[in-house]
Amino acid sequence: MANSLQHIAIIMDGNGRWAKKRLMPRTVGHVKGAANVRQMVKACADEGVSYLTLFAFSSENWRRPPEEISALMGLFLQYLESEVAEMKAAGIRLRVIGDRSAFAPLLQSRIDQAEQETAHNSRLHLTIAANYGGQWDVLNAMRSWQAANPGKQLQDLDAGGLAAHLSTADLPDPELLIRTGGESRISNFLLWQTAYTELYFTDAFWPDFDAAALKQAIHWFEQRVRRFGRTDEQVSANPAAAPGEQLSTAPLVPPAFKIS
Ligand code: FPP
Repeated sequence: MANSLQHIAIIMDGNGRWAKKRLMPRTVGHVKGAANVRQMVKACADEGVSYLTLFAFSSENWRRPPEEISALMGLFLQYLESEVAEMKAAGIRLRVIGDRSAFAPLLQSRIDQAEQETAHNSRLHLTIAANYGGQWDVLNAMRSWQAANPGKQLQDLDAGGLAAHLSTADLPDPELLIRTGGESRISNFLLWQTAYTELYFTDAFWPDFDAAALKQAIHWFEQRVRRFGRTDEQVSANPAAAPGEQLSTAPLVPPAFKIS
């Protein structure tokens, strides 16, 4: 039985090198990268994927040269201005996760507007991570849980309680994370949410990662044996039982097996 796939997360890396290879400025790579976002949203919808989460700007990307940062901000704004009407019509819900308070007021208001205008859509949930960091998300979730539960102690917090305060609280965890651009790391993306995610690393630069490459990644994912801590034999005997166990809020060690 093929693994079920609802949610793909992507680290879109390699725009700069794509441009450099063609002796062009890095920003041209980002322009091509932004155009590829459009293609990938369509490709994911065509594949029947319900959730797509894209890492567009990390909390560490502020370290880049100011002109590159402003080109990225400009592209994000342009993307919102040019795509929202089509997203509305195509049933795509757009959300942005990350600390948006650092963005220019115009960009913040376009983000709010895009989220409101697409809020009733559900064919594809597109989440753009911008000024996002996985560590920021977990810390924020803990603080938010504490604020919502003033009488409680930290030992009352469990995995489900924390997950409910993450910026992705109403999204399922991604089953597949794709990183383009040849690096094999998570780079502070969805640290908590990728605990049991299958990680697919490809050398293709983001502007070259097309619908055929997506199909290849999905095919690779479908071949994976997802064990969630169980043995191969247990998985073969009962393959369907695993996914529900991925974020167990109950202690997994039965009392009889506790090491005291
Ligand atoms: C990584 O490539 C890419 C980014 C830091 C930004 C991703 C942005 C886009 C795809 C365009 C704008 C996004 C939206 C949603 C419209 P890199 O610059 O690190 O490439 P390199 O590793 O080759 O230098």
